[in-house]
Amino acid sequence: MRVGIVGSGRLGSPLGRLFAAAGHDVFFSDADPARALAAARAAEGRARGGEPGQAARFGDVVVLAVGWEAFPVVVAELDGTLAGKIVVDPSNPIAERDGAAVVVAVPDRLTSPQYQQHVLGSEVRLVRTFNTKYPNELLELGTAGQRGGARADMPYWGDDDEAKKAVLPLIEDAGFTAIDGGGLSEAL
Ligand SMILES: NC(=O)c1ccc[n+]([C@@H]2O[C@H](COP(=O)([O-])OP(=O)(O)OC[C@H]3O[C@@H](n4cnc5c(N)ncnc54)[C@H](OP(=O)(O)O)[C@@H]3O)[C@@H](O)[C@H]2O)c1
Repeated sequence: MRVGIVGSGRLGSPLGRLFAAAGHDVFFSDADPARALAAARAAEGRARGGEPGQAARFGDVVVLAVGWEAFPVVVAELDGTLAGKIVVDPSNPIAERDGAAVVVAVPDRLTSPQYQQHVLGSEVRLVRTFNTKYPNELLELGTAGQRGGARADMPYWGDDDEAKKAVLPLIEDAGFTAIDGGGLSEAL
């Protein structure tokens, strides 16, 4: 599968590595192109790096691995490129302010991915997953699962059943057991 990664930081980089190790075509991108290229170099297989717009156009599935506050900025910058695409949302409503992590209130009593779906627009097919593990444990657990060891559970949520079906093998290929958590209203 062709996977675009927008945001090659603490989470996006190891997540893309897991996909690349499983044989998927991964296009890393970031606000800092050097970070995207470094992530591509760290990954095995056919990984490459470039601009966010290129990653968004490249991916059958596009992971938006940017911070909560950057999420609407990225969506605006991508300017419709994501319409019709399956987008994986690992974003948690936590922001960095003054060097400290601050939990942000999600507006309108929505769950976090319901709000991100609102930001993305109804043409984007959102699946929420990969939001429940720290990056180091994600890489360790995923690599262990890929090598035939015990598999950790990875919950996923979405309102689009076809999009969920498309993301399921990505979760499994990343070394996890995919657990259907239901719709976006039920998401963590
Ligand atoms: N880290 C965790 O423990 C963890 C766990 C689960 C889920 N998550 C979620 O995963 C997401 C990413 O977290 P992270 O820890 O990986 O953050 P991070 O290390 O700060 O990485 C985010 C990357 O996105 C880049 N970025 C910012 N604005 C951008 C834009 N407009 N276009 C393209 N790239 C942009 C950032 O570049 P700059 O640094 O230059 O701004 C940074 O390289 C967050 O939503 C977080 O809630 C994180």
